[in-house]
Amino acid sequence: MSVPLLDLNAQYAPLRADILEAVTRVCDSQRFILGPETQALERELAATLEVADAIGVSSGTDALLVAMMALGIGAGDEVITSTYSFFATAGCISRLGARPVLVDIDPVTYNIDPAGVARALTPKTRAIIPVHLYGQCADMDALVEVASAPGVPIIEDACQSIGATWRGRQSGSIGVAGCFSFFPSKNLGGFGDGGLVTTQDAALGKEIRLLRGHGAERRYYHERVGGNFRIDELQAAVLRVKAPHLPEWTAARRRNADRYRQLFARFGLGQIGLPAEQAGASHIYNQFVIRAPRRDGLKDHLQSAGIGCEVYYPVPFHLQECFRNLGHSRGDFPHAERAADESLALPIYGELSEAQQEQVVSSIAAFYDAARA
Ligand SMILES: Cc1ncc(COP(=O)(O)O)c(C=O)c1O
Repeated sequence: MSVPLLDLNAQYAPLRADILEAVTRVCDSQRFILGPETQALERELAATLEVADAIGVSSGTDALLVAMMALGIGAGDEVITSTYSFFATAGCISRLGARPVLVDIDPVTYNIDPAGVARALTPKTRAIIPVHLYGQCADMDALVEVASAPGVPIIEDACQSIGATWRGRQSGSIGVAGCFSFFPSKNLGGFGDGGLVTTQDAALGKEIRLLRGHGAERRYYHERVGGNFRIDELQAAVLRVKAPHLPEWTAARRRNADRYRQLFARFGLGQIGLPAEQAGASHIYNQFVIRAPRRDGLKDHLQSAGIGCEVYYPVPFHLQECFRNLGHSRGDFPHAERAADESLALPIYGELSEAQQEQVVSSIAAFYDAARA
């Protein structure tokens, strides 16, 4: 039995009729961009995510970009973020001509270290972007405290954390803006690219809407230089079918995480580091990431046994070729470097069966048994 890293068909099959109906509704309307589906999605997700405004955009990347543009971030500015995330987080800072100021992670949660953020603040700091990596919120209490004295806005990169909470508050609702991705592998995934910016600040929401459509409220009259950051009606319609199922999908992922914990204990795999849930954070397990000795050998072993697994992320930002100009070298952020060398994501999607999980863990046990023999 092979076990894929993600099985989107298993999620699609029971929703197929509803999704095709939603797609047909859009086709029949011939309204493809910023129509009633987008408006309804924005309203519905603003309620779910407990924010004043939610703006549908073209991707999680563009959510980050347009949120920073709306705050006026540009050349000469500094934006503090984690060195360990998907590329878009730092890439967007750079694209605006600002400097990504990188900070190491907490080795237990993989999230940005608030003490490192405090040390990285300068008079040029214009924003802090914590990433709620793998579906667990960064320590928002500590970050809000660090940011509040200098009055620096926090933009939450919530691309992996839709529905996660920090002390009961939705991820993406605490900073000045929250940025979400509907990339198909996310817990709420579309049928292509899509994203969302959330905010509690009506004026900021208005600015983001303006920038989403080339800075023009009245067609052909441009108040700002924005971009085409719009979400399609087809994506919005599909996401509206899927969004009500998010709580049950999250519960299934959390159940699977518990099952893995039991299985790792049963197989005596104490050498494997399991994800830790921080007090105050409710994890949604977009990824279930373990720490494994001889990780690359284990990865090859699992893949040849038909078990999907992936390294998120093999190279931290400070060691990326395109960020050589930042002047970092190996050793600068040791926790991120270790995570890059040791971590491995296992299948965690909601429809995963107990038998499949047992297969994953028994295959991991077989790898270490063979090494001992
Ligand atoms: C942490 C993080 N930031 C940003 C993004 C960018 O989102 P997208 O792929 O929708 O552009 C992603 C998703 O891949 C992500 O995981």
